[in-house]
Amino acid sequence: MSSLEEPLGMDKLLSLSTIDLFNRFSSNSCSTSGGDSGIEHCWIEGNTSTSSNDDKGDVEYVQGAFMCKHHTRDTPQNGNHAAYGNRHDSWHLTNLHHNSYCNNIGLHNIKNKIFKGIPKYVKIVEVGARDGLQNEKNMVPTSVKIELIQRLASTGLSVVATSFVSPKWVPQLADAREVIEALNNLDTTSLPVLVPNLKGFEAAVAAGAKEIAVFASASESFSKSNINCTIDQSLSHYRAVVHAAIKLNIRVHGYVSCVIGCPVEGMISPSKVACVAKELYDMGCCEISLGDTIGIGTAGTVISMLGAVMSVVPVEKLAVHFHDTYGQSLPNILVSIQMGINTVDSSIAGLGGCPYAKGASGNVATEDVVYMLHGLGVQTNVDIGKLLQTGDFI
Ligand code: HMG
Ligand code: MG
Repeated sequence: MSSLEEPLGMDKLLSLSTIDLFNRFSSNSCSTSGGDSGIEHCWIEGNTSTSSNDDKGDVEYVQGAFMCKHHTRDTPQNGNHAAYGNRHDSWHLTNLHHNSYCNNIGLHNIKNKIFKGIPKYVKIVEVGARDGLQNEKNMVPTSVKIELIQRLASTGLSVVATSFVSPKWVPQLADAREVIEALNNLDTTSLPVLVPNLKGFEAAVAAGAKEIAVFASASESFSKSNINCTIDQSLSHYRAVVHAAIKLNIRVHGYVSCVIGCPVEGMISPSKVACVAKELYDMGCCEISLGDTIGIGTAGTVISMLGAVMSVVPVEKLAVHFHDTYGQSLPNILVSIQMGINTVDSSIAGLGGCPYAKGASGNVATEDVVYMLHGLGVQTNVDIGKLLQTGDFI
């Protein structure tokens, strides 16, 4: 069994991240001619020197609205009534009216800008039973896993149930067959399971799995440490798996790990991520989930990565999978959905990590994601009350 080389410290990764950010947002990406994909320009508007007329109008209008508000609030406090004489009351009413008009239009413009592109419905894929429990030091009894999955599915979440991987590598999920067999009659959507090769695929199908996921990496080092083969070798294993799955009408999801950074290699280039995502998509994966395995992403790096991937895989076929460091996963999800992503992985109570990525932080918590999305008016079909009760069960 291979193990990771000594990982780069978080401080190194963070400084790499800063340099990377600087490069990505240098004159090229801010220029009106746009970057490689044109995506960066679109999504950092308002913070950049963009020269679009619409943009300028919005900013000026919003500033105007704030100025109106400022006047009505400050004038009495400053004791500057004399300037308005006896007409202060009518000034106030007129300006209040003008003010709310300004604010309404300003707010409308702001909302348009922020909500443009956000899907009305976002599917949340719960990974706690797999990504979470694979990382637990203590073995969780099979019966508890089964109950957890049932409870999670009853909230309206899509649930990744387990992995059919080598029990020598991930002993925590050695009971995959028992878990899936017990859940076969669950009246819910299919429960996808992870498989790393044909052996895992055959075992999953024999247990009754109706949907699977294969998992590749954008980092060679992580591919070696996680599945003991190169990226190319893994893709060739997955071609065989996808081929076999399609014959049985089984849907295959694809994961790409280390889409922002790797604990050994540091920052990963967006074009590398795009290449692996495209390979998985072209071989027949129905959806590609992009995993920030060690939670190093920020809105800036996520936008660049998604821009590159969206230029080769349709956005409606993409999902995001964030591990949470320094509270960055929610902003990362927000920019992802603003870019049109409509499937988001998360984990109940933020359980998770990755046994083969030293320093991998927990996944973004499902309840936080649902709360944020509902607050934005985005539907998820998830019952937040039931979800919180399930969180208490853990
Ligand atoms: P290997 O040692 O190179 O494989 O492992 P092998 O072919 O030499 O086989 C070794 C032994 O494992 C043999 O048994 C095989 O039969 C058995 P033995 O003869 O020694 O008794 N074996 C299996 N047993 C059960 N199920 C299987 C299977 N395959 C072989 N499918 C292997 C290669 C890929 C199997 C191993 O490295 C492995 O299982 N890795 C899994 C690692 C893993 O699960 N990582 C976590 C999931 S990825 C993740 O969390 C990231 C993600 O969340 C996204 C993100 O955050 O970015 C998805
Ligand atoms: Mg993960």
